[in-house]
Amino acid sequence: MEKKDIDWENLGFGYIKTDKRFVSNYKDGAWDEGTLTDDAEIVMSECAGVLQYAQTIFEGLKAYTTKNGEIVTFRPDLNGERMEHSARRLEMPVYEKDRFVDAVLKTIKANEAWVPPYGSGASLYLRPFMFGSSPVIGVKPATEYQFRIFTTPVGPYFKGGVKPLTLKVSDFDRAAPHGTGNIKAGLNYAMSLHAIVSAHEEGYDENMYLDAGTRTRVEETGGANFIFITKDKKIVTPKSDSILPSITKRSLLTVAKDYLGLEVEERPVPLEEIGDFAECGLCGTAAVISPVGKIVDHGREICFPSGMDTPGEICMKLRDTLKAIQLGETEAPDGWIYKI
Ligand code: PLP
Ligand code: COI
Repeated sequence: MEKKDIDWENLGFGYIKTDKRFVSNYKDGAWDEGTLTDDAEIVMSECAGVLQYAQTIFEGLKAYTTKNGEIVTFRPDLNGERMEHSARRLEMPVYEKDRFVDAVLKTIKANEAWVPPYGSGASLYLRPFMFGSSPVIGVKPATEYQFRIFTTPVGPYFKGGVKPLTLKVSDFDRAAPHGTGNIKAGLNYAMSLHAIVSAHEEGYDENMYLDAGTRTRVEETGGANFIFITKDKKIVTPKSDSILPSITKRSLLTVAKDYLGLEVEERPVPLEEIGDFAECGLCGTAAVISPVGKIVDHGREICFPSGMDTPGEICMKLRDTLKAIQLGETEAPDGWIYKI
């Protein structure tokens, strides 16, 4: 299989149309078998549930070429499980986890030539998503749905690769208590767009959102969870019912404990405490672990000792170990790596 002729080393995080995508339709109470197609266009009613009331959910995961040339993906079962939760919360039909994993593997296989080579630093990003496709005008769930998975080769999410980011404590909220912050619904991202555009205009890389109820605790950014490292090298990560349970974060906690021998703690993290930490990082499929150098809270600068020039030592150790697991350079815990 010949790889596509792409400048893999210089890819950003964008959409490039690849050869095949998976499509399955839900009608009369059941999903069809699903199929791979060349057709990247979607035609639907002007009154579709997704267009009127934002009934859409999605996932994100990556495929890699390992050191010995195999193509693999990372913990797709957890994406499948999370998508089941998202579907239930938005009154959408569940696309069952095992079928989800099967569709992911088939879609990667069909786009093998687009999986970036080992050593390029790039990966093939997969975007499974589901939306209400039948007409709804009264506020209620659609009766027909489409589940799709497309792929796109990607480089780093943040421009400039792994260099410390500057964040702003946002005046906007991302998720309400008892809302939809803990699922991967398109609506959570629509409402973050004004906040991210404003933050970029002011020169920041990202927003730090606080809990909407009290605005005293750290939640997450628009697309990643936080990890902090204490001066005595303990990993601390915010616990909250309104953040997305990141698969990268959950994996990093295992890596920290079992590979690096570090203590980990998941608990509410008061904004007032973050100036005491030695390092801060953003973790997610797209972000991997992106180091944070500075957080600005209404003019008050919180600068991590790791600084703006080099990423923090523990953040980099976590990043390197996780990447080594994903790229087949280090043995993975059982069940983490799925070979294509
Ligand atoms: N938080 C939000 C809001 C996200 O969109 C993502 C991305 O998926 C994450 C966290 C990280 O989750 P994961 O590590 O499962 O990609
Ligand atoms: C991911 O990391 O997969 C996401 O969905 C985050 C998004 C901001 C790109």
